[in-house]
Amino acid sequence: PGTRRCHASVATSYMETSEVADLDWENLGFGLIDTDFMYVAKCGPDGIFSKGEILPFGHIALSPSAGVLNYGQGLFEGLKAYRKTDGSILLFRPEENAIRMITGAERMCMPAPTVEQFIDAVKQTVLANKRWVPPTGKGSLYIRPLLMGSGAVLGLAPAPEYTFIIFVSPVGNYFKEGLSPINLIVEDKFHRASPGGTGGVKTIGNYASVLKAQKIAKGKGYSDVLYLDAVHDKYLEEVSSCNIFVVKGNVISTPAIKGTILPGITRKSIIEVAQSKGFKVEERLVSVDELLDADEVFCTGTAVVVSPVGSITYLGKRVEYGNQGVGVVSQQLHKSLTSLQMGVVEDCMGWTV
Ligand code: COI
Repeated sequence: PGTRRCHASVATSYMETSEVADLDWENLGFGLIDTDFMYVAKCGPDGIFSKGEILPFGHIALSPSAGVLNYGQGLFEGLKAYRKTDGSILLFRPEENAIRMITGAERMCMPAPTVEQFIDAVKQTVLANKRWVPPTGKGSLYIRPLLMGSGAVLGLAPAPEYTFIIFVSPVGNYFKEGLSPINLIVEDKFHRASPGGTGGVKTIGNYASVLKAQKIAKGKGYSDVLYLDAVHDKYLEEVSSCNIFVVKGNVISTPAIKGTILPGITRKSIIEVAQSKGFKVEERLVSVDELLDADEVFCTGTAVVVSPVGSITYLGKRVEYGNQGVGVVSQQLHKSLTSLQMGVVEDCMGWTV
């Protein structure tokens, strides 16, 4: 309570409010709006996390020598809570995030909370902040679990202590284009990941390393950057913050998971939804030539949901899809997925909690 700070990209000033009532649900962007509580659990050298506490949302104290600050030993997750029309709140596949955090933690030499602890912590955090879950159809509560080496180190080594935090923020559309198609540029100088690296886990460093290319692209008016593989400079990898799909006829193709791209939970869900609708889905190497020749292109991610791509620019050549309109396949898949996530249709997949 007190002065609540709104970091949303649409509202860069301080909001003199502590009440949800003052939020403009119609114009939520994807920026942090401080909520009431966060979850914090710690773990020492035994690798077992404490029970965890719900604390007022606020700053955390870290040693300047914390592993995460010096050597980037940190992972994050992203998932969403949706409000149903009856007022109840749905989580979408939280166990998938828990499992992905465990896998990523193993790669980053960190202990991780168990699946049960992760899901329980997510539920506690969402319930403590339930007044911040947007009304049905106005957005969602973005949930950000963070796992970091909080213990002090100087020589390069895993940190002696870890902190698991969850905070939340009400969000709307990720891209400033809203639901309109986005314009991507294929990056021809920088790469996001290389074989044997950490591109396949959600480590914080992966996101820091794409900021420069993204900044340059945004400066030229593009929505974001699409990366190619570091070995051949020819096959699609992913966009800075999401996975990519290419549609040609009845076939939907997406880069296979092989260690350099993030195994997106929305990616996995869209593959299953598309197959259930009769599309043939191929997970394989997808070349930039196929991208330029596609009928339709879209991105998937927790934050971006299903975002249609209106144009791709590669080495100065711009290809447009569907007359800048939203492609029929993206539209159909977006509707099917969000209807499940919001509890508008019966969850025959067993994905909501
Ligand atoms: C998400 O989609 O949840 C992510 O973690 C991507 C992030 C850059 C917003």
